[in-house]
Amino acid sequence: EKGGYDHFMLKEIAEQPKAVADTLLGRIDASGRLTLDEVRIPDTVLREADKIVVVACGTAFHAGLIAKYAIEHWTRIPCEVELASEFRYRDPILGPRTLVIAISQSGETMDTLMALRHAREQGAKVLAVCNTNGSTIPRESDAVLYTHAGPEVAVASTKAFLTQLVACYLLALHLGQVRGTQWGDEVLAVVRELARIGEEVERVLETMEPVRALARSLAHKDTVLFLGRHVGHPVALEGALKLKELAYMHAEGFAAGELKHGPIALIEEDLPVVVVVPSPEGRSVLHDKIVSNIQEIRARGARTIVIAEEGDEAVVPYADHLVRIPATPTLLQPLVATVPLQVFACELATARGNEVDQPRNLAKSVTVE
Ligand code: F6R
Repeated sequence: EKGGYDHFMLKEIAEQPKAVADTLLGRIDASGRLTLDEVRIPDTVLREADKIVVVACGTAFHAGLIAKYAIEHWTRIPCEVELASEFRYRDPILGPRTLVIAISQSGETMDTLMALRHAREQGAKVLAVCNTNGSTIPRESDAVLYTHAGPEVAVASTKAFLTQLVACYLLALHLGQVRGTQWGDEVLAVVRELARIGEEVERVLETMEPVRALARSLAHKDTVLFLGRHVGHPVALEGALKLKELAYMHAEGFAAGELKHGPIALIEEDLPVVVVVPSPEGRSVLHDKIVSNIQEIRARGARTIVIAEEGDEAVVPYADHLVRIPATPTLLQPLVATVPLQVFACELATARGNEVDQPRNLAKSVTVE
């Protein structure tokens, strides 16, 4: 049933091109218009929404953090992202014009379920982004947008994460379409790129051997740091979470701009630091800033592992290890940038003799608060 792979996680990483394609299937027509018929929340409600709140846990929370960039950029509706386990304990401000998006692979995560129940009690509309048909979270929501990743067996979430991103992009585009906020060339470029994203993920998967070799060479390390900016920040958080849960290593993700406010004190000789570099195009300021961050940490002895777009030459002099990803529109970069981090964590776990599919102390679906 593992289809020739040693672990379900490896199989599920390899299934990602198909999973993202399946999640897009039938939802964008030939002219680039979104047809999300399942979103059974009336357009009037979507038009009147004045706030979006995303609630989720763990990897799904990281998908939510990325979704915020897309939602705010394409819809101009303010969006908050909150850990589901914290949400209802702080008396959040909710009402009929609040749209809550609950993201969950399993659809059974108790923290997320309690957050959405609280939101509905306060009169908010809840839309679930979920991978499991008929599970509790979509049943208790006003509407659901299913991800079509297929069953995810490994405890560590991989293909579900990529499809959560795709679903959130579709939702953000749909909201933009309904509200008439964004429907220009930029959105069309994104829609075109989404149609090819499965192939791009496939290309990344084909070039992962050096990442595996690097992971094996780091099996004796205690700590790995991850840095990113913009949508690369949640990608860094996700890379660190994968490493914690699979390799049982100390791993932390930071916003690269925060380095100088504290974390740079952690940098020491030979410390592996993974840096997710934003696209050099269009956001050159951010790009230049992260290149100086890489320079700074390397000057302090860090071993820099740089994830950068093809054609980005500025990073080359400062990268001890360079991982190339295809160029994509900025907001979509997480779909390709996360993949090497999944492979890295999986290989490190194997090299350290850990049980990849069933990390210690963890359960696939967390049905207690
Ligand atoms: C990490 C992981 C967990 C889940 C989290 C939410 O790899 O699997 O962090 O993402 O427990 O689970 P769902 O999405 O089922 O609500």
